[in-house]
Amino acid sequence: MSPATTVIDNIGLLVTNDLAVGEAPLGIVRDASVVLEGSHIVAVGPAGAIADTRIDAGGMCVIPGFVDSHTHLVFAGDRSDEFAARMAGQPYQAGGIQTSVAATRSATTNELTRLATARRDEARRAGITTVEIKSGYGLDAANEVRCLQVAEHFTADTTFLGAHVVPREFEGRTDDYVHYVCNEMLLAALAHSRWIDAFCEVGAFDADQCRAVLTAGRAAGLGCRLHANQLGHGPGAQLAVELGCASADHCTYLTDADITALAASDTVATFLPATDFSTRQPYPDARRAIDAGVKVALATNCNPGSSYTTSMSFCLALAVRDMHMTVEEALTAATLGGARALRRGDVGHVAPGARADLLMLAAPSYSHFVYRPGVPIIDQVIEAGRLVVRSDHGPTK
Ligand code: NIG
Repeated sequence: MSPATTVIDNIGLLVTNDLAVGEAPLGIVRDASVVLEGSHIVAVGPAGAIADTRIDAGGMCVIPGFVDSHTHLVFAGDRSDEFAARMAGQPYQAGGIQTSVAATRSATTNELTRLATARRDEARRAGITTVEIKSGYGLDAANEVRCLQVAEHFTADTTFLGAHVVPREFEGRTDDYVHYVCNEMLLAALAHSRWIDAFCEVGAFDADQCRAVLTAGRAAGLGCRLHANQLGHGPGAQLAVELGCASADHCTYLTDADITALAASDTVATFLPATDFSTRQPYPDARRAIDAGVKVALATNCNPGSSYTTSMSFCLALAVRDMHMTVEEALTAATLGGARALRRGDVGHVAPGARADLLMLAAPSYSHFVYRPGVPIIDQVIEAGRLVVRSDHGPTK
């Protein structure tokens, strides 16, 4: 017996992100319906399609679920004092990561799972239907594996970030730590990871150390991503291109040469504007990058130090207001852009064959994410064909 079908009908404005399905920009279809069978979409067309079950979108807007391609959801501890000190004038320092490492190492696996589950649920309510999760607060083989095992509950896109910072027990011996990451830690993390990442920054790892880590990961079969150009100009963005990374993340400080290199590559520049908000950094010049042809994504970077938010809506608002992206560019970056950054063809768009990840909005247009900043306009979330969030307290339509 084939699985039951469901139609989401009476959609006033449907964003498909697929120009073979709808009109530019965003592959828009008006007065539309989407038919789901099991976890996938089987048809997109005019309103009035027939299925076993009908959900009425009430003439409102429906968009693909958000794809959050950069998070650090698995950690314990709280760094709100560090945030408050920063707002009072202290600079952001990657050294704060050690506070989260100590708390994470002390937490039981049950506690880490409980905390990560709460954050994943919060992200789902914020419309995130696909999430990438990094390790990086364990920083020894056993604790990195523990964090990755927790992350595996929520996603196949798990990322081994042993090269986040040098842990205290290796202080002054960065090369020894890099050797440990490339050998014993990588061997332990391999079965639980799809990606490998490193933090290329003054105070973390230099270009040669990051190259060593990513090259070892790639040789072991992992895909590569890189934290690049977050706190200042540096070699990260061009190193990401050189190594064929799927994404260079942050890209707050880009030179013309960085932009030229990214534009000529398949490496996605993943902007994390909630980080720049929370660390009082300038926002990336997304306009310059997009106009030069760089492929871009937007992600939350949910983590305890530099960006403790699961709100993609907040990122959209910052991207449009402060990074001069159009609303359409920002929405594409938070959906299809994230999918590209994860090399995923099954999410980030609405078309037959795609995973049925849909956000039904209590708003006539996706512009309301930015036009009504901070207002919870997501009414229902469908993830892999299942209704996982239903809001009873949506805003006035
Ligand atoms: O992406 N940049 C490195 N890692 C995180 C920050 C982690 C922290 O401060 O705890 C980031 O911003």
